Amino acid sequence: MKPDTTPAQNRPKTYRVKSFGCQMNVYDGERMAELLAEKGITEAPEGEDADLVVLNTCHIREKAAEKIYSDIGRLTKGKIQKKVPMIAVAGCVAQAEGEEIMKRAPAVSMVVGPQAYHRLPDMLDKAVQGERVTDTDMPAIAKFNALPQRKRRTPSAFLTVQEGCDKFCTYCVVPYTRGAEISRPYNDLLDEARKLIEAGAREITLLGQNVNAWSGENETGRTVGLAGLIHSLARLDGLERIRYTTSHPNDMDDALIAAHGEVAKLMPYLHLPVQAGNDRVLKAMNRSHTAQSYLRLLERFREARPDIALSGDFIVGFPGETEAEFEDTLSLVDEVRYAQAYSFKYSPRPGTPAATMDNQIAKEVMEDRLQRLQDRLNRDQLAFNQASVGKTCDVLVERKGKHEGQWLGKSPWLQSVWFEDEAQLGDLVAVELAEAGPNSLRGVVREVATV
Ligand code: 5AD
Ligand code: SF4
Repeated sequence: MKPDTTPAQNRPKTYRVKSFGCQMNVYDGERMAELLAEKGITEAPEGEDADLVVLNTCHIREKAAEKIYSDIGRLTKGKIQKKVPMIAVAGCVAQAEGEEIMKRAPAVSMVVGPQAYHRLPDMLDKAVQGERVTDTDMPAIAKFNALPQRKRRTPSAFLTVQEGCDKFCTYCVVPYTRGAEISRPYNDLLDEARKLIEAGAREITLLGQNVNAWSGENETGRTVGLAGLIHSLARLDGLERIRYTTSHPNDMDDALIAAHGEVAKLMPYLHLPVQAGNDRVLKAMNRSHTAQSYLRLLERFREARPDIALSGDFIVGFPGETEAEFEDTLSLVDEVRYAQAYSFKYSPRPGTPAATMDNQIAKEVMEDRLQRLQDRLNRDQLAFNQASVGKTCDVLVERKGKHEGQWLGKSPWLQSVWFEDEAQLGDLVAVELAEAGPNSLRGVVREVATV
């Protein structure tokens, strides 16, 4: 029998939120789940059908954006779960293509943008009456004030401190889907951090599209940047680890670099995208930094915290990128020796300046460049992991492993570490790193950590 693809109209009792893309989406997904829980809707147990499915989408690259339509198709054809659920589309595809989704996918009841999801419960009230509702307003801070208290119980938690982007890199949709840069107020962030800690968080990762552009007034009325916020968070009892992501090279200030040498709870890890190693390409990308200024910045982080693990993002095949220009990216990688990195083929995004630039690069050329770049990045990641063998460090226990008695967690350098011993979720366990693979390390429990 052909499944009914008209929107479901019964009030849902269970939900499932599926988040794609960046960590900010994971955070937003958690907050939507908390909102739905407040309305008495419970999370569908693993493997069981949900009455309401929220697809929290990513628009950063074409592949990510197209996924949404295949997911909607599979949901309405009964391929993901037996019963066709009520469907809400959230996230950046919702923001960018709201009307188109409504036209293309009749099974979708709600389309809600990343700055409007606090209104999801009201939208749901309309959807159960059979209305199809779209809300892609961008009131930014209003969202945070309207959200319920945090209830997330995980050893490692995300906390959005900044949203949006004013940088307008020529390939990127984020300034259009997430809007202008805004910083959440200092006091709200400390309150939310306290709630997360009370609920069991021992590590907090501060999130923002340009997290290091955050600024706010502290309790004495002084304007502080991200470093000031980190110093304040470090004074909270029960919080053991602080991380932040993603930073822009141009918003890096002396205080944040210095904090890596001053704040023991700030983990020795920095994700600082560079995108390309050639100055002409960087200029065409509107990155407003050069390869040299980026390298100099990293040097200063290494001076402040010599063991810092470096991570970055790369795009290969930006319009007009020549072979020699691409090789500059390889040279930059050789110079930095990243502990970890993310690399992508350039994907033209509708409405961005680069999408209409001449000299779009052929798919095969991009694939070849991506492979060569990833070979080097993988080489360096393995080398970094291998160089960690013999070190004893704290591992924050975040999950049970596949086997009985096995635990998984993260080293200070954000490496995945597994070990077998007595432990509990949220423990900080002193572990000697005994064996390294490309993506994880095996640890052996010791008495006291040295790092
Ligand atoms: N094509 C490919 N990669 C992109 N990114 C952003 N926009 C694009 C695009 N149009 C990458 C950048 C960014 C990361 C989050 O995604 O490397 O840092
Ligand atoms: Fe996109 Fe550039 Fe802003 Fe990062 S800094 S979100 S890549 S526009």
